[in-house]
Amino acid sequence: MSAPDTRLRKTEGESAPKRATVAVLDFGSQYTQLIARRVRESRVYCEIFPHDVTAKELEARGVVGVILSGGPASVYERGAPHVDPAIIDGRFPALGICYGMQLMAQELGGEVVAEGKREYGPAMVEITDPSGLFEGLGQSERAWMSHGDTVRRVPPGFHVVARTERLPLAAMSDGARRYAVQFHPEVMHTPRGAEILRNFLYRVCGVAGDWTPAAFVEEATAELRRTIGDRHAICALSGGVDSAVAATLVARAIGDRLTCVFIDTGLLRANEAEEVVATFGSRLRLVHVDASERFLRRLDGALDPERKRTIIGEEFVRCFEEQAERIGAIDLLVQGTIYPDVIESRSRESKTSARIKTHHNVGGLPEVMALEVVEPLRRLFKDEVRRVGAELGIPEDILWRHPFPGPGLAVRVLGPVTNEALDTLRQADAIFLEELRAADLYRTVAQAFAVLTPVRSVGVMGDFRTYGSLVALRAVTTEDFMTADWARLPYEVLARASARIVNEVPAVNRVVYDVSSKPPATIEWE
Ligand code: XMP
Repeated sequence: MSAPDTRLRKTEGESAPKRATVAVLDFGSQYTQLIARRVRESRVYCEIFPHDVTAKELEARGVVGVILSGGPASVYERGAPHVDPAIIDGRFPALGICYGMQLMAQELGGEVVAEGKREYGPAMVEITDPSGLFEGLGQSERAWMSHGDTVRRVPPGFHVVARTERLPLAAMSDGARRYAVQFHPEVMHTPRGAEILRNFLYRVCGVAGDWTPAAFVEEATAELRRTIGDRHAICALSGGVDSAVAATLVARAIGDRLTCVFIDTGLLRANEAEEVVATFGSRLRLVHVDASERFLRRLDGALDPERKRTIIGEEFVRCFEEQAERIGAIDLLVQGTIYPDVIESRSRESKTSARIKTHHNVGGLPEVMALEVVEPLRRLFKDEVRRVGAELGIPEDILWRHPFPGPGLAVRVLGPVTNEALDTLRQADAIFLEELRAADLYRTVAQAFAVLTPVRSVGVMGDFRTYGSLVALRAVTTEDFMTADWARLPYEVLARASARIVNEVPAVNRVVYDVSSKPPATIEWE
């Protein structure tokens, strides 16, 4: 490994795919990501760009169409986000949605007014010009409205293509490649919205719907071969879906010039280490490190959750660096970063938010190593990562595994982390997950696990009084893990899990189910 004091270098620009790309410009709508997902579901590659991107930049990125998202601002407000006028001058096919429509109207010489009252909810849209965007749709379609301002006069060269009872101007077009709609085609409440978006992509932008997992695998493999050349890479395999898919993809490109390091921290779930080795041992060049003793030793006496995280993060990096040195002559570090991480860290850079928990992503921290970072999944959403993984032949069990925190069971054993506590928790957790799978509920919840609390309580077993540990079960539903609700699991499933845990796990005599949502609680207990 080379000089230790160089910081990470990222090669995002260089490795960006030169595929026909649709740009989604983000004006702050809560639906921006949803628009991007809908486009990708139509098998068209798209990326989200900040609203102040320039036409030049888009051209350089191979952009073949632009969608302007909605947003909370008013176009005539001071500081309202604007668009580079060249982007909507007709050089790109364009679709403005809600705020995007108002922006197009204002920039191109139309007129936008405040309604005085927000319109929020369903509306029937009457299509007055069915060509282009609305081809194949009925004369009247249900659509979701959420706006304050409206367009009163279309810009020169535009005409009205849809109206509602309340809005004489619900959609407009220049009769060529520019469209705008006041409603939201990307949401479920616009039942034929996906068709409208597909019309825009296929008919107006003229792109082919050929961006499939297989196409991604082919293109990414070629791209990785090109950017990596004959260099060597290393990857920390965690057992989670992202690192598994990233590693498998890179291995497909460069074979055993990729070495994967799997560090067993001793803080993993039951059978997890064995499964990772059994699944990937034959597919990848894998180094399995049993580091459980040293992690446990360093955690001795640590009670504070943040302290536990710091210890584990540091020890992981140390362990990983040792392995890298042992392997030698490595130039690149493969990471399983995915699109939501990229979007989130971008928006985190522009906001100041309170730090609730330090998420030391195990496998993601060797900042002092002088390695170039390769992130082959940084443009994919989670469901796309899973589909790519399936394409690569990774078993379903791994692809659908719930996310697992880097610090592992150390933040689910509340208080001191000991071997006995970890064993107890592992058994309880395995039973809970087994029962969820048996009831076919594992995939319905986003995350489920057991927590070993330091609470001891009195119980009775046979004729004996017991004084045992309290285990809490947690299962949540969530889209983004930023907010979450507790899963309404059937009583029978909870009853079976609870009965089995107190019967089969010697140290436990009481089980509770966590019925708190996030916020105000968090998903993990530490
Ligand atoms: P919280 O507990 O903050 O968790 O609601 C949200 C999501 O993040 C995971 N989590 C972590 N992941 N390192 C990680 O890699 C951490 O330190 C960490 N803490 C929480 C948690 O499992 C959930 O999916």
